[in-house]
Amino acid sequence: MNYQEAKALLEKKGQTQLLRYYGELTESEQASLLHVIGSLDWSFEEAFKNPEDLSGAGRDIRPIDGMKRPAIEAKKAVFKAAGVEAIKAGKVAAVLLAGGQGTRLGVDGPKGAYDIGVTRPLYIFEQQMNNLLEVVNECGAYVPLYIMTSEKNHAETTAFWKEHNYFGYPETEVKFFVQDMAPAVDFEGKIFLETKERPALSPNGNGGWFTSLKRAGLVDELKARGVEWINIYAVDNVLQRIADPVFVGATLLSGVNCGAKVVTKNNPKERVGVLCLENGKPAIIEYYELTDEMANEQAADGSLAYIYGVILNYLFRLEQLERTAAARMPVHIVKKKIEHVNEAGETVRPETENGYKFELLAVDLIKFMDSVLPFEVEREREFAPIKNKTGVDSVESARALLEKNGVKL
Ligand code: UTP
Repeated sequence: MNYQEAKALLEKKGQTQLLRYYGELTESEQASLLHVIGSLDWSFEEAFKNPEDLSGAGRDIRPIDGMKRPAIEAKKAVFKAAGVEAIKAGKVAAVLLAGGQGTRLGVDGPKGAYDIGVTRPLYIFEQQMNNLLEVVNECGAYVPLYIMTSEKNHAETTAFWKEHNYFGYPETEVKFFVQDMAPAVDFEGKIFLETKERPALSPNGNGGWFTSLKRAGLVDELKARGVEWINIYAVDNVLQRIADPVFVGATLLSGVNCGAKVVTKNNPKERVGVLCLENGKPAIIEYYELTDEMANEQAADGSLAYIYGVILNYLFRLEQLERTAAARMPVHIVKKKIEHVNEAGETVRPETENGYKFELLAVDLIKFMDSVLPFEVEREREFAPIKNKTGVDSVESARALLEKNGVKL
């Protein structure tokens, strides 16, 4: 795209601010800016103009039944045997979603490279891999691992894994792919400039993982390897059990298209997505989309009706993902603090939210699965998210939970 084409496009779109500093740039910076403008994903415009109503109000949302811990315990041996068999047969792969920016934690670099150790280094990636290696040892087979990064952290993430010898995994079993980016805009819908030569782009949310995996040619690779199930998981839960044979077996034997690890919510408004039924089909409603009335609703036994909080650990049937990959996922518009260059050419690091990012969310994939097994796990053993520096879901709380689980820090 040349300057004239970019100018015409941006005039049509009402985004000429992206060329505000064009005249000050070097030739290569100009070329790079024009290239980025030419490859911008404009699908945010529709989401901005006609935002979907994603609130819980007015939707036919009901509680869902799940497999509770006593039921799992009773059939644990059968589930485990089925899970081990599937892993041994190479039918299960894992996808680590590590393209997020971890703004709440506020550290530079990939979140997984964060050192949660106290007397020794223990990186989040490493801690999660220690859990996966337990499964590998138990099954006598590797679970192929695919790691989603973003343009913002790809180079650092891949270098970190290499430097740490893939945390005990064979290099050949670890593949990286980069997720797509979406523009970040101010409250009027104008795309910010991150620097004078670059529009502000950010990872398009963790829901784009399957499309990005496919674009990288890795879905074909998975199929060629005979993989039938994909276990996706978040980087920030340091108690994450990946390819847990009991979970794998229970999902496979239940005949569903998806298994979802869930914990019992610890309060009605806990900030976790909640598994439910929408129009009779499994879905997840985000905590901020749950009305107060729904959040407090009680089941017959007095427990919360919407009790199953998801922990971003799902097992998807690959065939079903393929069938639904083309389906249009809803775009979530999220208020964020967006660093940018202002009209005076100064870099602004806002203290409060100043614009929107557009995100696809993994939780929305559940709607396309038709059948889901909510599989309850023990919170204290499997859920230690690191979202913040201190307080709730923080480094401190995760360290305490790791110690409770016998991990030396
Ligand atoms: P979060 O929703 O906590 O987002 O991610 P985040 O970007 O890591 O953190 P904040 O909100 O800026 O503080 C949940 C999981 O989804 C991944 C994250 O890496 C984490 O594993 N994720 C998130 C992506 O892979 N891509 C994204 O675009 C967003």
